Amino acid sequence: MTTTCKNIGALVSGGGSNLQAVLDAIARGEIDGRVTLVISDNPDAGGLARARAVGAETAVILPKDYPSRADFSRALAKKLQQAGVELVLMAGFMRVTTAELTAPFRGRILNIHPSLIPSFCGPGFYGHHVHEAVLEYGAKVSGCTVHFVEEEVDGGPIILQRTVPVLDDDTPDTLAARILIEEHKAYPEAVRLFCAGRLKLQGRRVIIAPEK
Ligand code: GRF
Repeated sequence: MTTTCKNIGALVSGGGSNLQAVLDAIARGEIDGRVTLVISDNPDAGGLARARAVGAETAVILPKDYPSRADFSRALAKKLQQAGVELVLMAGFMRVTTAELTAPFRGRILNIHPSLIPSFCGPGFYGHHVHEAVLEYGAKVSGCTVHFVEEEVDGGPIILQRTVPVLDDDTPDTLAARILIEEHKAYPEAVRLFCAGRLKLQGRRVIIAPEK
């Protein structure tokens, strides 16, 4: 294994359990990287405390302090660049960003979404809205998707997906909880593969290169 140790930055809005899953995998030595910076749009985000606990720098960048989404995205990009971040993890980040962030980090921003993209994704499909829509539609499987972030919301190339059954007595909460368990496996695995240089883009397809 090469010792490239990627400098990882994360964007969080809430509890940060996906960030924690990545931090735990790093602590177990499974990921050749370290989280150095965690930015939130919410000063009360639990993810900030998780970052502090591992000695990562934290920052709060509030959309209301910027005149547009583009300016907010530029501020995020600037902070990440100043910290020398090579890989950006959106980990429950509830803001839509623009090319001001995605262009300078193209191919280096990952997101986790709690459905099987391209179903139940895109604008408006976040949090419990996703699971409500799955139940209302009557889908029999759901799951999570880790993908590269591009300008189109939830539209970038898919890296990994994990599925769960939808049960007859599911509520949005029970379905979300079953999916979250899979998210905590999928996200660290995708980060591990990225940091090992094993994700190869062929058009829209992400090919996972064999271990060297
Ligand atoms: C997860 O379901 C993630 O897929 C979605 O937001 C939720 C965040 O959970 N984008 P957490 O903050 O990682 O606990």
